[in-house]
Amino acid sequence: MIRLTIDERPIEVPEGRTILEACREHGIHVPTFCYHPALEPYGACRLCMVELSQPTRPPRLVAACTYPCEQGAIVSTDSESVRRSRRMSVELLLAGAFNDPELLALAEELGLEEVRFRLPEEDACVLCGLCVRACDEIVGVSAISLTNRGISKEVSPPFRIVSPTCIGCGTCVLICPTGALKLNDVTGFRSVHLVDSEYDRVYCQVCDDLDLKPSLIQDLEVLSSKHTA
Ligand code: SF4
Ligand code: FES
Repeated sequence: MIRLTIDERPIEVPEGRTILEACREHGIHVPTFCYHPALEPYGACRLCMVELSQPTRPPRLVAACTYPCEQGAIVSTDSESVRRSRRMSVELLLAGAFNDPELLALAEELGLEEVRFRLPEEDACVLCGLCVRACDEIVGVSAISLTNRGISKEVSPPFRIVSPTCIGCGTCVLICPTGALKLNDVTGFRSVHLVDSEYDRVYCQVCDDLDLKPSLIQDLEVLSSKHTA
């Protein structure tokens, strides 16, 4: 077992737990954006940063969703440097996802008064990678990926041509937290609006009877298990 201290509470967790998992198991709130329990952690949004102190190293910020619990570690989830880092992450995420209610509530809680950056389009992609990981890890087809680098980085199918592996299931749309991916259902066809492109797919043969609603996100694992069965 690993023994560590989180917010001055002694905590014991089995080896291999991340700091975020330990926090959640013990009712300690750490905000996340690019994390989904059904997917491998990715560490893209930096919203879950916590302050880690170890006997041999000066304190530093680490992403709770990817960092493993270590013997004797002392973690603070709400120090001033955590709050400063979180304010910056929220501000950057709000630059694209400026209608996201959870981000707006967090911004208020952190005392963020002004968002200095703004992407041109509403409900923009903030490159959290959830859609790409869901397509790969849950649906198992890897029809989309994060392509290009720097400011050209985007979610797209290979060479911006709809991938023959895409089954039109809409999982990417369901999991996207900003609404950057949109699904248009027209009888017999389903088109996914991905960033600034439109891709037509036939209905998914497994779940075309499902009425796709945002609430289905909670059933993502159920939905995905149908595809992988
Ligand atoms: S399209 Fe949505 S889910 Fe995919 S990376 Fe962008 S914000 Fe995240
Ligand atoms: S939730 Fe940890 S980096 Fe996004």
